[in-house]
Amino acid sequence: MEMTSAEIRQKFLDFFKSKGHHIVPSAPIVVKNDPTLLFTNAGMNQFKEYFLGNKPAPYKRIADTQKCLRVSGKHNDLEEVGVDTYHHTMFEMLGNWSFGDYFKEEAIAWSWELLTEGYKIPKDRLYATVFEGDNAEKLPASTIALKKWKEYLPDQQIVFGSKKDNFWEMGETGPCGPCSEIHVDCRPDAERDQLPGHLLVNKDHPQVIEIWNNVFIQFNRLKDGSLVPLESTHVDTGMGFERLVRVLQEKHSNYDTDIFTGTIAETEKITGKKYEGTDSLKDVAFRVIADHIRAIGFTIADGQLPSNTGAGYVIRRILRRAVRYYYTHLGYNNPMLYQLMPVIASQFSHVFPELEQQR
Ligand code: SER
Repeated sequence: MEMTSAEIRQKFLDFFKSKGHHIVPSAPIVVKNDPTLLFTNAGMNQFKEYFLGNKPAPYKRIADTQKCLRVSGKHNDLEEVGVDTYHHTMFEMLGNWSFGDYFKEEAIAWSWELLTEGYKIPKDRLYATVFEGDNAEKLPASTIALKKWKEYLPDQQIVFGSKKDNFWEMGETGPCGPCSEIHVDCRPDAERDQLPGHLLVNKDHPQVIEIWNNVFIQFNRLKDGSLVPLESTHVDTGMGFERLVRVLQEKHSNYDTDIFTGTIAETEKITGKKYEGTDSLKDVAFRVIADHIRAIGFTIADGQLPSNTGAGYVIRRILRRAVRYYYTHLGYNNPMLYQLMPVIASQFSHVFPELEQQR
């Protein structure tokens, strides 16, 4: 029987708990104490000081689901959202961390075990990317990651990537390192026979998507652009929860999973229009609203009201984009977004009770 999104999230946390990880709550989505960020844009943000060695980590192994927002700064997906079926403003990132403890081999082994044995994703649909090195930065290729992946995957399912895709950085400065991504090819068999999936990895194909990034934090990027090796090495992984659910629920679009169908059904009820999952502006509007209401709701619940400067202005822009879409493309001329909050708050009450509390 198909797993619900709640079961899928729990399975991730239980798996890493069984591997000695301490489960912690998500940090707030609004960042108050880091001038380099307005919003949490990755699960590792709250652990930055542990990576840099400025503070001791309370546990050597941690796992969680983190509320993230990628609408400003280095990671900004806003204009993609709603137009395609797999980018979001706000998303959940499932992550496991090692602070000076296990490194590449264990991280890769566990991600493989969870995906193939835990979630039972067929092995022949999975692809791993490995950092090919970078001469200008004097960075070698990731031979350890490559060797580990070769234990699980044939050569044609391992793809080398450049700094652009396989060297992860939090922002202009901060902890960073080479990474190894995991992609899933969700195309039908006939299409897969015609064109092998490795040719579509990191090519913006809507059915060949990255789901998990395993970052091996080894450096601190300084303001002058230099890379300083850290005293210890760390693991920072991030799996896109909405994408994982889509793969496991065998949908072609994140918006067809039970993470979004409740909001879309409510929007249908309010507007009297039907969501058909096409590329029409009407359907883009349904997706924009389903995505944006989460971003707006979660950030307001975490204390960031829409305003005309800084983080507040980012939220106001998302809010305006949602309003513009329903006004123009769903022909709905009354305030709508507040009507959707009860659905979201109740859907997430077991994992993010702040929405219900702040309603
Ligand atoms: N920091 C990495 C990312 O955001 C992995 O968690 O992709």
